[in-house]
Amino acid sequence: MTQATTVNDSTQQALENRLLAPRFYRTDYKALSTLDVTSVREEWDVMMANFAADTNRAHFKQSIEFDPASLDVDPELKRDFLDLLVSSITAEYSGCVLYQEIEKNVENQDIAKLMRYMARDESRHAGFINRALKQLGVAVDLSVLKQTKEYHYFRPKFIYYATYLSEKIGYARYITIYRHLQRNPENQFHPIFNWFERWCNDEFAHGEAFALMMRSDPRLLRGHNKLWIRFFLLAVYSTMYVRDHSRPKLYEAFGMDPTAFDYRVFEITSEISKQVFPMTLDTDNPKFRAGMERLLALSERAEELHAQGGVLNKIRRLGVMAQSGLTFARLYFLPTLPNTLPEQVCTSPAW
Ligand SMILES: [Fe+2]
Ligand SMILES: [Fe+2]
Repeated sequence: MTQATTVNDSTQQALENRLLAPRFYRTDYKALSTLDVTSVREEWDVMMANFAADTNRAHFKQSIEFDPASLDVDPELKRDFLDLLVSSITAEYSGCVLYQEIEKNVENQDIAKLMRYMARDESRHAGFINRALKQLGVAVDLSVLKQTKEYHYFRPKFIYYATYLSEKIGYARYITIYRHLQRNPENQFHPIFNWFERWCNDEFAHGEAFALMMRSDPRLLRGHNKLWIRFFLLAVYSTMYVRDHSRPKLYEAFGMDPTAFDYRVFEITSEISKQVFPMTLDTDNPKFRAGMERLLALSERAEELHAQGGVLNKIRRLGVMAQSGLTFARLYFLPTLPNTLPEQVCTSPAW
């Protein structure tokens, strides 16, 4: 029997390795062990004391009061909401597994201890989403996910850039949705969004940890590494843009324009990322915006061809993917904005 026939739909969706789906990662644990945080020791110790204080411990233990039948009146919204939850639980659990694996495999005790705290938080986040999914009758089997999902190898520096960005973007997304729904409570169709304010503080703190790790070795933020940083900024932003636009009913229910939401999230993330990254993407450049729209249209076309099936459509899809690659390259070579802020540490979510 194949995996597809033994797990439920949401687990199957979480297992899929489609281009835009969250992935699971492994890295070079020996190389990661060599990171020396001595130069940022003072800030490191404050951060670790905050993790030890564990102020969000009780937050994710509260029960979610919700009548699942209320979602059945709008099946399209339910589909988009489930897509959001499954993609979020995959991302949260991917962080949990990565941090656990690093903790298990590194000799560096500073890193191991940090990873234990962050895995604790991500495990809570994933568990909490799974409780919401369970109420809707579609919990994801996390043990199947851990054992079966394909793992991708990333060099440690790629883990720093990508994970730093996804933690900060996670913070920016949660807080933007939370604040919007506070202003528009009639659009809050599920109570899970009430948890986002304190939830985003965890993601903010995880991002801070990666910022400190990168600042402990400034070579990671200079020279040819700037090209990698630029690449990861664009990859993370464009993936988010395409994914958010694939859930129109969700944003309609929020009373939000997904384009405006995404540019607000880019703005917050870019501003925060100035704490480490030497440049930001010029997301207000009309060419940047047109390029993102083009990537979105091409991604929708590729999905259509995939859904239609057949050999000819497979070839057509390759052509569409080549055009996506070219569009991504054009976006990559657009001028970036130099980071004019002096090196600084953002220690609290002021957004
Ligand atoms: Fe998380
Ligand atoms: Fe996180």
